Parts: sequence; C-alpha cells; structure tokens
Amino acid sequence: MTLHEIPVSPLLVLLVAAIAAFGFFRSHRHVLPYPPGPNDTIGTISTFDPWVQYQKWGKEFGELIYIHDRNILILNHSHVAIDLLERRARIYSDRPVTPIMDLKLFQQNFRQAAIPRFFPAQYSKVHECLYNLIATPENFMKHTIAVSQQLIYSSLYGLNISPENALPSKSVEAVELLGESLVRGTFPLLDRLPWLVYMPSWFPGCGFHKKADRFRSIMQEVDNIPFEMAVNNFKNGLGTSLIAELAMACQENAAEIEAIKSMGTISFLAAADTTMASISSFLLCMCLNPEAQRKGQEELDRIVGRDRLPTFKDRRSLPYAEAIYQEVMRLHPPLPLSLSHTSIEDDMYHGYFIPKGCEVIPNVWAMNRDPDVYYEPDKFIPERFLESEKGPFRNIHEIYAFGFGRRVCAGRHMAENTVWLAIASVLATITLGKAKDEKGDEINISGEFTHGYFCHPKPYQCSIVPRSPLAKDLIVTATSTKE
Ligand code: HEM
Repeated sequence: MTLHEIPVSPLLVLLVAAIAAFGFFRSHRHVLPYPPGPNDTIGTISTFDPWVQYQKWGKEFGELIYIHDRNILILNHSHVAIDLLERRARIYSDRPVTPIMDLKLFQQNFRQAAIPRFFPAQYSKVHECLYNLIATPENFMKHTIAVSQQLIYSSLYGLNISPENALPSKSVEAVELLGESLVRGTFPLLDRLPWLVYMPSWFPGCGFHKKADRFRSIMQEVDNIPFEMAVNNFKNGLGTSLIAELAMACQENAAEIEAIKSMGTISFLAAADTTMASISSFLLCMCLNPEAQRKGQEELDRIVGRDRLPTFKDRRSLPYAEAIYQEVMRLHPPLPLSLSHTSIEDDMYHGYFIPKGCEVIPNVWAMNRDPDVYYEPDKFIPERFLESEKGPFRNIHEIYAFGFGRRVCAGRHMAENTVWLAIASVLATITLGKAKDEKGDEINISGEFTHGYFCHPKPYQCSIVPRSPLAKDLIVTATSTKE
C-alpha cells in the first residue's frame, strides 16, 4: 500500500492542521506587534488621577495600551479584562508584588458560606456608626473610618479597639505607605531604574528606603499586638474570635501562626480604606442626589417599615437600595486601578503580542464609565440597574470594583455585606443633604475625591439628621442593647 492509499480520517487531518497552526502561531508570536501606546511615559503618568490619563490614551490607542519601557498593559474595557484576567486566568493571575499570605486561608474564612460569622459584628458596628452620625454629625468622616477599622478588629479578633488607640493609626499609616508605593510615579526614579532598590537610603533618589523601613517596623506591631490580645482573651476566657480559634487549632505551628497573623493584618490593610471609601462615597452621593435618597427611603419604609432596622434578610426585597449600592460601586470604585496582575507567559490577543512578565493594570474607573455600556456614565443614576435586563441583583463577579479572575478580592462577600448594611441602615434612619451657611444658603459640595491609590471623597460640609424621632429611638435602642 502506498502512502497516499492509507485511509486518513478527517479528524486526524483536523488535528494535524490544528497542531501546525498552533506551532505557526507560537513561532510567530514574536513577530506580532506589541499593542500601541505612548512612547515616552516618564512624567506623563502623573500621580494625579492616572486613571483619567489612561482613559485618554485609550481614545488615542484603542483597547490595549502598552507602555513599552515599563512592560505595562492598560485595560480600559471590561470585556478585555474578562477575556484576559478571567478567561485566561492561568496566564494572568500573578502579581507584580505579592504580600506574603496564604490565599487558601482567606478563601476558607471569607467564602460566602463562612461570612454569617461576621453578621453580629457588622450589625453592631454599623448601628454604632448610625449613632455616631446623629450624635456628632460634623465628624462624619471620622465615623466612616471608625466603622471600617473597628469592624475588622471586632469580627476577626473579637476586640473593641477605639479610634483613639494607637493601633488603628499605625495601621492607617501602613495603608498610606502601601498606597504611596503602589502609585506609579511616586518614586519616578525607581520606576525607571529598578536597581536603585539595592542602593543605600542616602543615595539620591532612594528616599523610598526610609519609607520601606518605617513600613516594616509598623507592620511588626500591627501583626503582633491584636493577635496576642485575641489569643490572650481566648486563653483567659474573656471571649473567642476567628483569629484566636485558628491559632488554637494550629497547635503553635510557627508557619501557620505567621499565616494567621498575616491574614489579620492584610485584612485590615485591604478592608479599612476600601470599606470606608465605599461608605463615604455613598454618603456623598446621597448629599448630592436627594431624589435617589428619597426613593431609597421610601422603599425602606414600604418594605421594612419604620419600627425596625433593616437586616440582611431584607436585601432581596429592596431593589432600589440594591441599585444605589451598585451605582456607588460603579461610580466610585475605591481602587480605581484595582490591583495589577502579571502575566506568567507570552501571549497573543487580537493580533498583538503580550510578553511574559507584563504588568496588567485594569482601569476599573474607565470600565465603569464606558459610554458604550452605561448611558450618561458620569451621573449617579441607580435606575440604570433597575431598567437593565439583569436588574439590580447581580452576581458579585459583575462588580468590577472587586477585581477579576482568580485574584478577585478575597474579602468581597464580607465587604459588600458591610457596605450594603450601611446603605440600607442609613436610608432607613437618616437624611443627608447640603449644609447651610449663616444666611441660610446651601453650602456647595465640590464632590472631589482624593488622588491616591485608594480613592475616597475629600472632606466637605453636609447636614445629617435623623429622619424622625422614631428613627432616632431605633438607633439609640440598637446601640444600647448590644452586648
Ligand atoms: C469595599 C471594600 C473592598 C474593595 C472595593 C476591595 C477591592 C479589592 C480589589 C480591587 C482587589 C484586587 C483584585 C484583583 O487583583 O483583581 C482586592 C484584593 C484583595 N482584597 Fe479586597 N476590597 C474590599 C474589601 C476587602 C475586605 C473586607 C477584605 C478582607 C477582610 C479584603 C481582602 C482582600 C485580599 C486579601 C485581596 C488580595 C487577593 C489576592 O491577591 O488574591 N478586601 N480587593
């Protein structure tokens, strides 16, 4: 039988053709062009809202923006982020800088089925926040910070840490240092000359060393102090907590103890500013959008009634409150550039070559303002979620503020419960609006946001009043009856 007489199955032909095509593309990856992007970026990535600059580049260069001299890929569209970071998660799930943490420990303790454990702390701290808001409304910013920080100490460590304690302010300093280091351009020389990391701190351009040393020393304290307190409380019969129970279960295995400490510390770093940003963005949106606030309040009155505070069980019955939550997270993602992912191998996408080791920045701020997806994208319009086919109750994966793929926010279920509960509880009991000056004229609210890596409203003046004497009583009762 000659070679051409051998019967060839069509399937085999297809397989050979597929292997050949795969080989061809693999060997031609390097001849595919890099995605377009600006040539010289030094000085053009400002520390001042880089997400706006990235969005402008998107209009010039298209869906993929590649910064050659830094091996950075910027994504301004959600469908591209989903294609790369979710559908190709195997390639795009690394990080440029990975904190030492045991992700499995996070996933286990913050998975959806595990989070009812945090409900009591969430009710307690959110109700306390309501009380503080009506008692000293002028300090409302402080109160949103306090609820976000205290919640972590309370729900993870079983500790009641007052805002005056040195611990939260140290942790906040750590968050600030971390935020600074994440913003491109904070240490411009280091961005350009990474070998500077090996030079001593007196060397020109090496100021980042001092900050890194400070960060390390603060982290030592932040890691150990609440952990020891939680474990001692447990041993002395003064109360239990997630951290103490985990520590007891691992029988002093040093590596596991480190992982538990790190889970606590990273939770604080990851949760405090982001939760605060979401709650304070909501308060700002209510001050600026009285009609949305009125509709939200009306829904709470109609569904929950005026004689009790909302609970998690009410959530699915409150579509307008849900739409407000979705709209706050859309318009004001606390991390406008999310957290970068890194590719672990060469890749091709839509005819472009994406090299291994590429830092991929998801510009969530721009994705959430994509005019092809959201009409009037800069406006606060909760109705857009009610009108859409999917409605307001969406899968948490569709909230891009929590990131993408395998590296999506590990604490997202806990975070969204806190933010939702704060939204529903405020709508039920408090009215926010513009403050008035001595002539009785409304004081303008600029609606400006900070420009750091973590983005939240800048301080402003507003009016915060209980909706009724009954609402005030509900708040007072809820806070005086808690354990
Ligand atoms: C509204 C509040 C929060 C927002 C907006 C938020 C947002 C994010 C984002 C954007 C990321 C990066 C995702 C990615 O790379 O694709 C992230 C990562 C992370 N978040 Fe959150 N977060 C919030 C609250 C929390 C809370 C409460 C915790 C824990 C208690 C937490 C723990 C983490 C951890 C551990 C990571 C790193 C996950 C990894 O590297 O795989 N976050 N978060």
